[in-house]
Amino acid sequence: MDHPPTHVQQPPQALPFAALLEGRRSTRRYTDQPLPEGLLEHLLAQARQAPSGANLQPGEFISLQGDARARLSAALVNAFRQGAQEPEDYSYFPQPMPMQLRRRQVAAAQALYGALGAARDDRAARNAQFERNFRFFDAPVALLVTIDARMGSGCYMDLGMCLYGLMLAAQAQGLGSCGIGAIASYPGLVRQTLGLEAGRHIVCGVALGYADPEASENAVRTERLGVGEFLRVMG
Ligand SMILES: Cc1cc2nc3c(=O)[nH]c(=O)nc-3n(C[C@H](O)[C@H](O)[C@H](O)COP(=O)(O)O)c2cc1C
Repeated sequence: MDHPPTHVQQPPQALPFAALLEGRRSTRRYTDQPLPEGLLEHLLAQARQAPSGANLQPGEFISLQGDARARLSAALVNAFRQGAQEPEDYSYFPQPMPMQLRRRQVAAAQALYGALGAARDDRAARNAQFERNFRFFDAPVALLVTIDARMGSGCYMDLGMCLYGLMLAAQAQGLGSCGIGAIASYPGLVRQTLGLEAGRHIVCGVALGYADPEASENAVRTERLGVGEFLRVMG
């Protein structure tokens, strides 16, 4: 594994692993502070330590900067405002969403919009927040995650482990992150805007950076199932 470049600052005291697991939350507003040089590469090298079936290590991360990032965000925001729709490369949610899962989805949305003070019928406020997905929440680092279209669904699981590794590695360095599945709603537009090959599936975006400590949306807390709700013991 790559060793961290010497200029990568270690947090004053490394957090115990349990604190990383329990303390990670999606960060949706960032300060302008850039990442130290080399830190992103270091985090990705750590994330790649994730296990994967047959060690295929699926998935690619594209660090979007400058003109490429600006063009992509503009295209996505425009598509969203036009109400454009296109088929996704891979299906994420069950259709229709079973009521029990719908309740979790609504609770997570309520937690976010509640923190922002956006009422249920305040479409403008909710749309404004949704558009921020397409600007990678204005984070200093904007990543696009893609996968070879020939890979099976198991490889998405492998890539998910790599993504979680990235989030925890980032957090260990004092950074926040957020997965952005919303970007996968416009895979054709993403490929066209960035000139990507048709054979690459658009999985999601990731925002990374230092969390704005004042932002109400960063104080959002979501609930988790109790172990008894997802563990079955068979004797
Ligand atoms: C792959 C992935 C995609 C996500 N996409 C979005 C998104 O498009 N917009 C958003 O605001 N949050 C997104 N999230 C964040 C989830 O809503 C969040 O992880 C969940 O509500 C649990 O909250 P927590 O991360 O704060 O613990 C995504 C998370 C993951 C892992």
